[in-house]
Amino acid sequence: MISTPIYYINGEPHIGTLYSTVLADFFTRWEKVKGNNPYFTTGTDEHGSKVYQAAQKSGLDPKKYCDFMSSKFENMCSPYSIEYNRFIRTTDKDHIETVQNLWNQLYSKGLIYKGEYKSWYCRSDESYLTQSQITKEKIKGVEYYFTKDTYKQVEWISEINYKFKLSQFKDEIRKWLLSKDDIITPKSQLQNILNILDNEDISDLSISRSKSKVPWGIDVPNDNTQTIYVWFDALLNYITSSYKINHWPPYCNIIGKDILKFHTIYYPAILMGLGYKLPQHILIHNHWTVNKQKMSKSLGNVILPGDLLKQFRCDIVRYYLLRNSNYNSDSDFNISGIKKINNTELADIVGNLISRSFSPILLKYCNGVISKDRVKLTDADLKLIEYLKNTKENVKKYYDALYYYKGIDELIKYLREVNKYIATIEPWKIVNNQNLSAIEKGNQLSSIFYCICESIKMAGVFLYPVMPSCIFFL
Ligand code: MSP
Repeated sequence: MISTPIYYINGEPHIGTLYSTVLADFFTRWEKVKGNNPYFTTGTDEHGSKVYQAAQKSGLDPKKYCDFMSSKFENMCSPYSIEYNRFIRTTDKDHIETVQNLWNQLYSKGLIYKGEYKSWYCRSDESYLTQSQITKEKIKGVEYYFTKDTYKQVEWISEINYKFKLSQFKDEIRKWLLSKDDIITPKSQLQNILNILDNEDISDLSISRSKSKVPWGIDVPNDNTQTIYVWFDALLNYITSSYKINHWPPYCNIIGKDILKFHTIYYPAILMGLGYKLPQHILIHNHWTVNKQKMSKSLGNVILPGDLLKQFRCDIVRYYLLRNSNYNSDSDFNISGIKKINNTELADIVGNLISRSFSPILLKYCNGVISKDRVKLTDADLKLIEYLKNTKENVKKYYDALYYYKGIDELIKYLREVNKYIATIEPWKIVNNQNLSAIEKGNQLSSIFYCICESIKMAGVFLYPVMPSCIFFL
């Protein structure tokens, strides 16, 4: 199973959402290329007070609001050739049943208990807040606390709700993380997780809320005063979509860096509590910014996937997102970057090579067929074929290690070299050489076209996960 996070539906999908989903589609297609049977799951995270408030604002009943918003995320996929197996919604009946079942399992194992939960709470926003989300203000000598986001007053509250014995799994999580060196990709994120385990308070996790404060959520089994905490509900989506149909454990859970703690500490702890196998890989990606700024509605810089399709083919956008992102830093989005990469790489390198392979010369001198007994590789051809073999190995190694962007880079470097090879060999000179017979010309051209076509064949295999709709025709 390969998954994306499930997306919050209180805003529209943007290029960050698209990137995460394209990444999952890329790795799913790569697994298919290798003959494996991957299962790709994505979807929407629909419970909690934010969605409830957004629904109230829009005048729609919460479920209708969720139907409307969730469809925007689902509809983003097909125009971008994203082929998921399951689009899960946390309001799906089977998910609600799974969450309640798993709750009961953990409860009967003694891993869920009733305890005191203390938190900042904003009555007018109806939201619970962490320390980092609030700010202090002294007014006439009295200290008041406000939300940083909406600048509304918050209070320190205490309530009795249910807790999950997270603290019990701290050592086991550390052991698991260090048990293999490819669980966390990129490796640099592993240290961040270990730092959280060592320096942050990993106490038991509150996994329910008072129903009077958060009515839009899954009911806690046998207690109608409480609803299940949205993150606990959301993290179980991977189990709902994949466990019963034998796609467990996940091959790779793909997440953004902001939700690392939930996926590398809470999620494994819950799986350990349930006695379920842990994911093979967790891929943590960086973010996309626009003019080096975080995308936000108030800044008006949110890039919508649908708008891009008015200007570019989906394959070009997919290529841009995968080619221009990496695990070292955030990537900055700009339209001119898409245009540039389309011209300099897709047209000049890939397109050029493909159009050369459809050359009328091939038809005229070789009857459109590259026959093996006519291929006599020269030193230059052999050198290129050697480079091709190395590239094949390297790209495969990078794709398998989840370093998609390094693989694409290796491939493009090679294709650039093939174009140079053609420019140096100048096949058109062979065609115009009066001293060669048509058969001799055909023999020499066969070797050149053999090298070109082998290169295109390899490009087709490795570019298929990146640009599935146009490469399909190769
Ligand atoms: N609902 C939770 C996830 C629950 S998964 C069990 C959530 N939703 S989210 O919509 O806020 O974010 C979903 C994903 O989108 C996260 O992985 C986040 O990192 C990613 N992105 C949000 N903005 C992004 C960019 N600007 N760029 C790239 N990815 C971004 O968190």
